This record gives sequence, structure tokens and C-alpha cells, in this order.
Amino acid sequence: MKSLATTAMITALFATPLAAETVMPMNVVYEDGAVAQSLTGTPGDVKSGEEIMNKGAGNCIACHQVTALNYLSFHGEIGPSLDGAADRWSEAQLRGIVANAKVMFDGTMMPSFYKTDGFTRLGDAYTGEALEGEADPLLTAQQIEDVVAYLMTLKFE
Ligand code: HEC
Repeated sequence: MKSLATTAMITALFATPLAAETVMPMNVVYEDGAVAQSLTGTPGDVKSGEEIMNKGAGNCIACHQVTALNYLSFHGEIGPSLDGAADRWSEAQLRGIVANAKVMFDGTMMPSFYKTDGFTRLGDAYTGEALEGEADPLLTAQQIEDVVAYLMTLKFE
């Protein structure tokens, strides 16, 4: 028992993640609400990010108005307009807000899109294997990167 636990701890301490490896939700490092490191190492796809703004688990425009998405109807007003978001926030801050807005905005209504609730299963954390079933985050790591890439296009000029 003890030696197994020790081995796991040593592995966790010294394993250096490969650059292109997906950062699991419980391993995301927040600094003042911002996440500097890409969750996947693969640049986000702006077009895919734009789609997530209006579909599935993303559905950002249910709460946010975005002028660039005016071709879609029914933008919500629960959150602030995202026009000029890239002028107000850095890429790292936007990644942090989309991954888990509650770190940046304490008690916000905005859902945490890259967070798995409840307990952490140690085996999963140490192997870096994807969690299964109900513990999946609302968006995948790459979907977060895609949305961040899209938000980076929202600038006033
Ligand atoms: C249930 C409503 C809701 C949904 C859905 C939602 N948000 Fe938010 N969001 C908010 C609220 C409310 C705030 C304001 C933060 C606060 O509570 O002070 C916010 C803040 C933000 C901000 C910072 C606003 C600024 O000053 O520019 C960004 C960026 C953002 N959201 C992006 C997104 C994206 C991207 C999605 C979809 C993946 C999303 N939000 C989905 C409610 C929502």
C-alpha cells in the first residue's frame, strides 16, 4: 500500500508532460484566473470555436451578445457583450474564463466548461487517462482552445 502510494506520488511529481499532451481538468493551473498553458498544444480552430458559441454544451450566446454573430438570433443578456473581449483580456485570461469562470469571477452564473465536479479519482489523475461518464467536462480541451481562438478575434478596431 504505502510503497504503491509513494510510487504514484513520485511519478506525479517528476513526470514531465509532453508539450502536445492534453491537460486534464484537475491539472489546469490557474494564475489570477488565467491559464497560460494551452490545454492541448494544438492551436485553436477559429471556425470550430465560432460554432461552439452557438451549439451544444457551449451555447455562449444564450447569455452573451456578440455583434459578429448577428446572423444568429436570440442573444442573451445575462452576461456582458463579448464584443471587444480580446481587447479586455489576454489569451491566457480568456482560456481561464472559458475553462472555469468561477476562478476569475467568484460566484458567477457562467458554467465551468472545463471542470469535473466532485472527487478526483487518483488513478485517473496519475495515468492522465480521460475520465468517463458523468465526470466529462462540458467542453473538451480542444473545444476550449477553439473557443479561445474565436474570442481572440473579437476586437474593436
Ligand atoms: C449561464 C450564462 C452564461 C453562459 C452560458 C456563458 N457565460 Fe460567459 N459570462 C456570464 C456572466 C454572468 C459573466 C460575467 C462574469 C460575472 O459573473 O461577473 C460572463 C463573463 C464572460 C467573459 C468575460 C466578459 C468580458 O468582460 O469580456 C467571457 C469572455 C465569457 N463570459 C465567455 C463565455 C463563453 C466563450 C461562453 C461559452 C463557451 C460563455 N461565456 C457562456 C454568463 C455566461
